[in-house]
Amino acid sequence: MLIKKIVILFSGEGSNLENLLKKLHKKSFKSFQVEVVSAITNNPDAKGIQKAKNLGVDTIILNHKTFKSREEFDTKLVETIKNLEVNLTVLAGFMRILTPIFTNEIKAINIHPSLLPLFKGANALERSFDSDMKVAGVSVHDVVSEIDAGEIIMQRCFDKKEMDFDNFKSKIHECEHEIYYKAVLKVLKI
Ligand code: GAR
Repeated sequence: MLIKKIVILFSGEGSNLENLLKKLHKKSFKSFQVEVVSAITNNPDAKGIQKAKNLGVDTIILNHKTFKSREEFDTKLVETIKNLEVNLTVLAGFMRILTPIFTNEIKAINIHPSLLPLFKGANALERSFDSDMKVAGVSVHDVVSEIDAGEIIMQRCFDKKEMDFDNFKSKIHECEHEIYYKAVLKVLKI
């Protein structure tokens, strides 16, 4: 069976990483099997490292603090991803701004905790919670050089109701876990 390879980039908790591994890694779909060949993090203390290990996937650590510039970090990141020969790069809570060195070379998708094009960039979850909007949600989009501006691949929204911040955050993560693996499969089929 055809194997489609992906790499997952993350920076912290890794709940999306864990969910993607459970839903996709070594699982067979209609015409292909998915293999998560590796994970990559910029944070040596990321909790996701152990989560990936528990599910049989090693993490490559590229500590951004050891690079002289954003460009130098991105050059190494691109080289590392190219060596893995993946079909798709999946950003799951990867908290680094990427330069065109990355976006011009690597086909990648990202998950963002808001209904894009609203609340692009940092602290999107908090800004979405604080807004007067009656609905909130999550978006999966193509990674391009402008932050959170690539074509939207999939979204999920919900009614904010009277949620407190903790409930809101849980609902955001629930929506992310519901759609991200589906979005990955949708992109891999193309
Ligand atoms: C997720 O909510 C993701 O949408 C967000 O970081 C969180 C990572 O959680 N990403 C961004 O804000 C990117 N701009 P996780 O580490 O538990 O998957």
